[in-house]
Amino acid sequence: MLYSVDFLSKKIEEAVQNTSFDLKPKSLFDPISYALSVGGKRVRPLLTLLTTNMFGKDVDKSLKPAIGIEIFHNFTLLHDDLMDKSDMRRGMPTVHKKWDANTAILSGDAMMIEAYKYVTSVTSDILPEIIELFSTNTMKVLQGQQFDMDFEKRLDVTEAEYIEMITLKTAVLLACSLKMGAVLANAPSRDAELLYNYGINIGLAFQLKDDLLDVYGDPKTFGKNIGGDIVNNKKTYLLIKALKMSNEKQLAELLRWISIEKFDKNEKIESIKKIYNELNLKLISENLIEKYYLAALDCLSAVNVANERKKELISLSENLMYREK
Ligand code: IPE
Ligand code: IPE
Ligand code: MG
Ligand code: MG
Ligand code: MG
Repeated sequence: MLYSVDFLSKKIEEAVQNTSFDLKPKSLFDPISYALSVGGKRVRPLLTLLTTNMFGKDVDKSLKPAIGIEIFHNFTLLHDDLMDKSDMRRGMPTVHKKWDANTAILSGDAMMIEAYKYVTSVTSDILPEIIELFSTNTMKVLQGQQFDMDFEKRLDVTEAEYIEMITLKTAVLLACSLKMGAVLANAPSRDAELLYNYGINIGLAFQLKDDLLDVYGDPKTFGKNIGGDIVNNKKTYLLIKALKMSNEKQLAELLRWISIEKFDKNEKIESIKKIYNELNLKLISENLIEKYYLAALDCLSAVNVANERKKELISLSENLMYREK
């Protein structure tokens, strides 16, 4: 039986909404329920279930570990929003805004523990491999997040360093979700590795798109405030390219905005966006997204499964490339 993305989405949403934490104090666990219940695309658990299903195995057995990855992802968001000073997510106030910074830290920590409990709910024959897979990749997410923060303070970040940073902070968790779906399905290790590489490429395209939406998205649809990356001097592909391609006047303008500490946020966002537009960076970025998407499809086509069984995974990936949220 090949399930549709829609069917599996509903299954995941139901499971996420049913995660309850009957522990005290409520002040530690209420923010977790809030963070998990306010939606999100649920991309990572979907990748896990789609992969297990692609190999014809029981998706229900993969559900708990898949939810564990979603809980981990949401934990990173609590801390990320604090680090990035973001007030909105999924159209709602972020946890540190609704409560406070300490709540975001500690409820986030609790989510990480909870994530491990879910991910390790697997049969003992595959448990060591699952722990190794999850631990290695989740540590990479934290490494990537630190590079992201370090890069805010630097002007000489290269394109290659940016790609390494987003591989770590974003792409590996998508790759891990896919590989986990394969390991849970006892798929051949060659296929599991191909799916991991597919996830890296999809993940790179995914973060490039996220960075684009942070400038060009509609806040109502995207659910996050626009321009946060510009305000924080994040070394996105857009900014790295702009620093490299700009003429003397544009460069002076960019450097002025990056260096001043007191400014009107909207004025900074509009001024830098104007330079991005002049340099045609939206299109340049979309071309790179396309390149990673095509590389991803190459990895997937090498997986030893009938094409017919890959179509739901391809349809999800395609939607992610053209998403507006
Ligand atoms: C946001 O992830 C963080 C990034 C890696 C860009 P998602 O875009 O998957 O966020 P939700 O879970 O759908 O809200
Ligand atoms: C976040 O990247 C990656 C992780 C949460 C690990 P961003 O900082 O760009 O994510 P958003 O835009 O806040 O969702
Ligand atoms: Mg961030
Ligand atoms: Mg952020
Ligand atoms: Mg972002």
